[in-house]
Amino acid sequence: MAARITASLLAALWLFVHTCGVWAIVEVNMEEKVEVFRDSTAQITCMYTSDEGIGGISIEWLIVTRSGEKEKIYFQDSFQTKIEPNTPYTDRISVNRTGAEEVVLTIDKVQLEDEREFICQIKSFTEVSTGSTNLRVFQRPNLPTIEGRTDGVATNEDELSEIGTCEVKNGYPKPKITWYRNKDPLQDIPNEVEVSSRTTTQSTGLFSVESKLNLKVKKEDKDAKFYCEVTYSLPGSEAMTETERINITVFYPSTELYVWVDSPKGKIKEGDTVRLHCSGNGNSPSSVFSFKHNDVDIPGEASVNVLENVSRLNSGVYQCTSTDMDTFVELSNTTTVTVNFLDAAVVTPSKTVTMAMGQEMEATCNALSSLQTQTVWLKDGEEVAKGHTLTLKATSMDTAGTYMCVVTVPEVDGMETNNTLRVFVKSSPVLKEDDVTEVETEEETVLLSCYARGFPVPVITWGTHSEKEQLITDGGLVKVISLEQTDDSTNSTISVKVDSNATIFCKASNDEGSDKATFNIKVMTKSNGVIIAVVIICILLLAILGSVLYFLYKKGKICGRSGKQDLTKEKSSKDNIVVEMKNDNTEESILLGANGEKQPPRD
Ligand SMILES: *[C@@H]1O[C@H](CO)[C@@H](O)[C@H](O)[C@H]1NC(C)=O
Ligand SMILES: *[C@@H]1O[C@H](CO)[C@@H](O)[C@H](O)[C@H]1NC(C)=O
Ligand SMILES: *[C@@H]1O[C@H](CO)[C@@H](O)[C@H](O)[C@H]1NC(C)=O
Ligand SMILES: *[C@@H]1O[C@H](CO)[C@@H](O)[C@H](O)[C@H]1NC(C)=O
Ligand SMILES: *[C@@H]1O[C@H](CO)[C@@H](O)[C@H](O)[C@H]1NC(C)=O
Ligand SMILES: *[C@@H]1O[C@H](CO)[C@@H](O)[C@H](O)[C@H]1NC(C)=O
Ligand SMILES: *[C@@H]1O[C@H](CO)[C@@H](O)[C@H](O)[C@H]1NC(C)=O
Repeated sequence: MAARITASLLAALWLFVHTCGVWAIVEVNMEEKVEVFRDSTAQITCMYTSDEGIGGISIEWLIVTRSGEKEKIYFQDSFQTKIEPNTPYTDRISVNRTGAEEVVLTIDKVQLEDEREFICQIKSFTEVSTGSTNLRVFQRPNLPTIEGRTDGVATNEDELSEIGTCEVKNGYPKPKITWYRNKDPLQDIPNEVEVSSRTTTQSTGLFSVESKLNLKVKKEDKDAKFYCEVTYSLPGSEAMTETERINITVFYPSTELYVWVDSPKGKIKEGDTVRLHCSGNGNSPSSVFSFKHNDVDIPGEASVNVLENVSRLNSGVYQCTSTDMDTFVELSNTTTVTVNFLDAAVVTPSKTVTMAMGQEMEATCNALSSLQTQTVWLKDGEEVAKGHTLTLKATSMDTAGTYMCVVTVPEVDGMETNNTLRVFVKSSPVLKEDDVTEVETEEETVLLSCYARGFPVPVITWGTHSEKEQLITDGGLVKVISLEQTDDSTNSTISVKVDSNATIFCKASNDEGSDKATFNIKVMTKSNGVIIAVVIICILLLAILGSVLYFLYKKGKICGRSGKQDLTKEKSSKDNIVVEMKNDNTEESILLGANGEKQPPRD
């Protein structure tokens, strides 16, 4: 009965709604998706329109499970609100009415598993309307890292070489890694570029992506900067970060080889240390070098070849060969080394020459050299001629001496040689001493010197002139003190014991002639009597001086006395007065003598 009434009531309502055209329409309106960060709070809004007002409808929130089924998590009508027990959202959701026809489902601590479809279902008496929103969850990944290989890569590898690895951790959804070389993104190109990514899912559901770059390395890659760009999604936006730049060491083989003299700079001379350097335009560490000199192997494998104390024999063609031990490619190149030389100077005539006075001669000086030379002649450090030839005229003894020719190579510092020529000029001896020298002496012995120049070297003899010339010899009264000889001079010194006036001569002679010098020695006898007389006179003079001084002293003493002093003295002793009177008189007489005028008596 009641059921029939209810049915008829419902039918009447249906009729009413339809006839009047006023359907109780319910419409649900929801966003297609809501994007939030993991661990944040998500809010899903359900907007609806209904004629019934709040009282006439029920609101349900449902989720779509992994298997595609719908599961109710929340129910509300005018009588009750109910969070369904034992769902993943039982403790994490709340539903609030934020407007007349708007409810919001709030989910706390959103997890990756919450990424699913949420359905809002509004029921009125006659109608059910649903809407759904997909919840998207995001996690910003950690900063990406890059690791480049630290060892070098050779360009001639057959296979691709690993360049580095980029890694980005803990992102959601999966971040994307792109490799860049300089400004260009790298994509897989068979046999050239290979980028391989590996994704791991953490227990939390977050993704970590690792990307390796393999390349066929080219020489240009030595200057390239490699890096990774990571792109990932965030709520409502895309984001990007880049790793730091890395570079790699690229070993590339040489295509050209250079060999050169590293030092010395400029021309090489004998005795120098020469450093030959060999280097290719590549940088393969596996290169081995070898040198040849005029096709003869030089031992060693280094790229530098040091030649010590070189001679002209070290001149020639040097070949350097480099061998890449990986590819066995050989390169070689050559350089020509010229070791310059300057031989010893040769002087003609050699060593010594003897010239007659007035004679003329020519001397030459030559030194063989690989370079242009310059010759000068020096005598006693002063330049006397330029060029190979020295022309001499023996005008005097001064023409004699040592002539040095110095040969230099102006282009090269320190290339120099020299040689000497000794020139003698024949001449009869000339004594430095005057023809006659007066010598006065009071000593028993006298030193006499004779110095003679001449060539050949003069011989000096000594003699006396008593009645006739007579040579004197060493020993007895004459002693030879010294005899100094050079190639063209003699200096003889003798000591002679003399007791009376004498005439002694020295004679210098050689093949060319002779010279003579005479010494007249006068012996001054020393008189003892005169000396004694002089001494006595001196003593007397001293005595007189002493007495004068004494008198002046005494006089000064009497003049300084006062009368009072004299009275006291008179009182003290009569004997003394007498003595004083006497003394005064003597003083007076002396004063008279000294001054020439009479002094009035004192007392
Ligand atoms: C929703 O309502 C609950 C109580 O029902 C309240 O605790 C919460 O703060 C409200 N949330 C918002 C966003 O208004
Ligand atoms: C990378 O480049 C820097 C400067 O450009 C340089 O100092 C460094 O040696 C390079 N590293 C490698 C491995 O080539
Ligand atoms: C040899 O050296 C010269 C001069 O340095 C250079 O110009 C040339 O290219 C080199 N040749 C080779 C084959 O490396
Ligand atoms: C240099 O070589 C020359 C011969 O070529 C030799 O006489 C000289 O002693 C050497 N000098 C040094 C310092 O080794
Ligand atoms: C002459 O040569 C020697 C060595 O050969 C050297 O010691 C000397 O300085 C040179 N003299 C001059 C003036 O150049
Ligand atoms: C000769 O020798 C003596 C004694 O050694 C010396 O005093 C004198 O100066 C010398 N004369 C010359 C010109 O060298
Ligand atoms: C030496 O000669 C001087 C003057 O000519 C003369 O005065 C002196 O007496 C002479 N002495 C002797 C010892 O003959």
